[in-house]
Amino acid sequence: MKAPKQVIDSTPVDIPSTEPIEQEESTLQSTDFQPAPTEVLQLFPTNMLRGSIPLDMNAISNDVRGLVDKVKEIEGNDTARNYTTYFNEEIRTSMHEFEWFKMFSNIIKDTYVEFCKNIYAHELDYLQRDDIHLFAWVSVYNEEHSHEVHNHVDSFMSGTWYIKTNEDTAPIKFISPNVMTTFQHTSVDKYHSRENFPNMHFMGTEWLENEVHFRPLESEFLLWPSYMQHMVPVNTVPQKENYERITLSFNLKHRLNINSNDTGHNMSYKGIL
Ligand SMILES: [Fe+2]
Repeated sequence: MKAPKQVIDSTPVDIPSTEPIEQEESTLQSTDFQPAPTEVLQLFPTNMLRGSIPLDMNAISNDVRGLVDKVKEIEGNDTARNYTTYFNEEIRTSMHEFEWFKMFSNIIKDTYVEFCKNIYAHELDYLQRDDIHLFAWVSVYNEEHSHEVHNHVDSFMSGTWYIKTNEDTAPIKFISPNVMTTFQHTSVDKYHSRENFPNMHFMGTEWLENEVHFRPLESEFLLWPSYMQHMVPVNTVPQKENYERITLSFNLKHRLNINSNDTGHNMSYKGIL
């Protein structure tokens, strides 16, 4: 089977020949293997962003440890809650005062609107940065921590910025959102890598993957549609020193423009609902 042309490549796909097969010249026997010439068309991709925001990651790691230490004082040994600022609004939002967080906020909001413009063709120039909702929290995973399969509701795009990782850091695993193609799970699970996808592995075949495992490098971030199911397994690689996987995760959405909104008689719902 011939390799498919990439959709993003402007090279036109080779259209299979429609010349009539010379039946008289054919030496094929009816029992010979004779599939038709074809191209594989890989359609309906899922768009994610991979990028890097290289700030002073050591200094940021220290600030994050300080925040999560405060959480540990409150949550004790509860490993479902003691590694993240997600559940404590006061500690979570105290992060907003760090200069590095302000820089991160500006960059990720600008990246988000550019993504929405480029990928979804949304006209967003009515927005200013304050019209973009950024809910962010930090986590310090030690050996006992993991996060089961979930997605992020009430959000348009979600992401994680990797503040401290090493080559043994547990990956983030994404499960294919294309339930129609994976419904029967007919492709054989082959754990494989792909050219031009560094630090990533795939479950499935090179034509139809069921999972993507991403092993992040320090200062990288991923941005994905919030509906995507993902998880972080426990670290199973023996560590030379105390295991730490430090991340900043976030949800993004924006104020929507509406029109056709002045029909009937206007009325405030304040105090009614
Ligand atoms: Fe998540």
